[in-house]
Amino acid sequence: MPEIRSIGVIGLGAMGAGIAQLAIEAGYETVGREVTVELGQAAADRIGHFLTRKVEKGQLEQGHRDAAVHRLMVTGELEALADCDLVIEAIVEELEPKRALFAELDRICRPDAILATNTSALSVTEIAAATTRPERVVGMHFFNPAPLMPLIEVVQAELTSDDAMEVAAAVGARFGKEVVRCHDTPGFIVNRVLIPLLNDCLRVLDEARVTPEALDLALTNGAGWPMGPCALVDLVGIDVHVHAAEALYARSRDPRMAPPARVVSMKDAGLLGRKSGRGFYTYD
Ligand code: 3HC
Repeated sequence: MPEIRSIGVIGLGAMGAGIAQLAIEAGYETVGREVTVELGQAAADRIGHFLTRKVEKGQLEQGHRDAAVHRLMVTGELEALADCDLVIEAIVEELEPKRALFAELDRICRPDAILATNTSALSVTEIAAATTRPERVVGMHFFNPAPLMPLIEVVQAELTSDDAMEVAAAVGARFGKEVVRCHDTPGFIVNRVLIPLLNDCLRVLDEARVTPEALDLALTNGAGWPMGPCALVDLVGIDVHVHAAEALYARSRDPRMAPPARVVSMKDAGLLGRKSGRGFYTYD
């Protein structure tokens, strides 16, 4: 099994920044790529803030925090990932941009490098098919917020080698996560269950004529959820939820997967949840 020393992360939005944080905390030299260096630096600042909070709460030593921060290099250039042993992609949840990116990575990265996608609902097999090394392409599906959620699904696409699965699972374990392996089916394990469940919750808003606050109160107190469905969709991002639901609907034709009209309209209006300051709730 090839040793992983350096990790590239592409896309430093909520998920990518969380993954980069895990990588530097686990001791990997990490290259984070954003569209511009300025966006990359903003993500690095957010990561630095979360690590400072861990120091303030006694969860991390100052020296370890500073060493972790130094392990992160941000760049606007894809070529800067040429020497990475493992690259984890966390860009927009759309097939064609991901396939174009993987074709680029296939050209830029060493032939033995492993390429991982954090896709939550697209086919890892279709993404892998854009490369000449599908046996080295694997799914590594993190959950939002990545530094706090304990699970990673490691996904075996049609041609993924057992070796690549081992590498991804070992890195996930070194990130301190529970790793569950599965095959490349729509929604893998968690989203296969969670996306239609959240859609059902959102439909109940209109059917039972309740407010988001009331629905969230019901599920947290009546079903033991750590946060209510509306707060969760706001956290994940209304646009991310709609994209994932549409992708799963396209692949499964299961009507429960289709995003409710209400969240599609919210996405179209730019009400994206926490990241835009307004979704089911408003945020500072
Ligand atoms: N990155 C890094 N650190 C973060 C963070 C982030 N994004 N968000 C919060 N933190 C840190 C903060 O420093 C915070 O401490 P502070 O407020 O003192 O600074 C600390 O973590 C703890 O935060 P909270 O007090 O908010 O932690 P809670 O104990 O309330 O737990 C939670 C928060 C883990 C989000 C919990 O509410 C939970 O488990 N919610 C459910 C989340 C869930 O289901 N996620 C899955 C979504 S589905 C998905 O991702 C799949 C995708 O494909 C769509």
